[in-house]
Amino acid sequence: MRQKVTTLGQFIIERQSDFPFAKGELSRLLRDIGIAAKLVNREVNKAGLVDILGELGTTNVQGESVKKLDVFANDEFISALSSGGECCAVGSEENEEIVSIQNQVNKDAKYIVCIDPLDGSSNIDVNVSIGTIFSIYRRITPSGHADLTDFLQKGTEQVAAGYVIYGSSTMLVYTTGRGVNGFTLDPSIGEFCLSHPDMRIPENGKIYSINEGNYVHMPSGVKSYIKYCQEEDTTTGRPFSSRYIGSLVADFHRNLLKGGIFMYPATAKSPNGKLRLLYECNPLAWIIEQAGGKASDGQGRILELKPESLHQRTPLFIGSSKMVEMAEQFISKQEA
Ligand code: AHG
Ligand code: MN
Ligand code: MN
Repeated sequence: MRQKVTTLGQFIIERQSDFPFAKGELSRLLRDIGIAAKLVNREVNKAGLVDILGELGTTNVQGESVKKLDVFANDEFISALSSGGECCAVGSEENEEIVSIQNQVNKDAKYIVCIDPLDGSSNIDVNVSIGTIFSIYRRITPSGHADLTDFLQKGTEQVAAGYVIYGSSTMLVYTTGRGVNGFTLDPSIGEFCLSHPDMRIPENGKIYSINEGNYVHMPSGVKSYIKYCQEEDTTTGRPFSSRYIGSLVADFHRNLLKGGIFMYPATAKSPNGKLRLLYECNPLAWIIEQAGGKASDGQGRILELKPESLHQRTPLFIGSSKMVEMAEQFISKQEA
């Protein structure tokens, strides 16, 4: 008996009732993101064949060298959002300021989008999984050009959040506050098809993900937790496995499926952590909470952090709830 295929588009329409206040605008916005993801996926799969490798020679607002695919992905998502008509402005890792996409089509748009168009840039030309992360809010300002007021909202105010992982297969995973659902791109029909309904993260796991190259400069509580993960203790399945890909989306996705914790603490190079609150930590924090996990900055809930700037960084501890709680205990002991 042929398995019923539910495409992303069908699923969004079926779940239309998720957003009582919206009359299809958010659905159309999610559809626009799905379209851009397919276009980026097509280029990602050609990386190495097409002249999109190598550094563009510029650096992004973070001072990191920008690969051509970052720029391409940024352009694709912004143009899809501009022509879709539901988004009035974009906050992107690749743009220092807010990108207002106010035009005849978008002039009454109700939503703003924060986006990391290409996550894991350092992995583009070594053929390792990379991703896109997005976060959607209702605008606060009544009309005209959106401003920082619209973007500096707590993560608890998100109306939708998701990521795309361009890996052995390409998946789009998102939440609108009613659980987490994963869709795998079927290249033969060019559609994202529901493959992982109602995703849940195991409350405990045996994988820890962290760049141990930064060990020397980590806070002592984090060092103690790493040592805890490495100790022999059969009753808790330790030592845990260390898995670190260097693409947040790929490390996050593996831990969501298998259980585990991803950590990017404060380091000497990144005293506030490296990952950005608006377009990396908040969307993934909502997704993990919707899947039964936790996301903390080491002290408290990521989603409760009040952003002060567009590219603000935060330490991040995210994954299985019991593992995040354990890491928080080690960190609070350090401070005692
Ligand atoms: P981006 O490519 O969007 O700048 O993100 C890279 C991030 C994240 O994907 C990953 O977890 C982290 O950088 C890796 O940082 P280190 O190389 O310092 O470990
Ligand atoms: Mn990133
Ligand atoms: Mn990026």
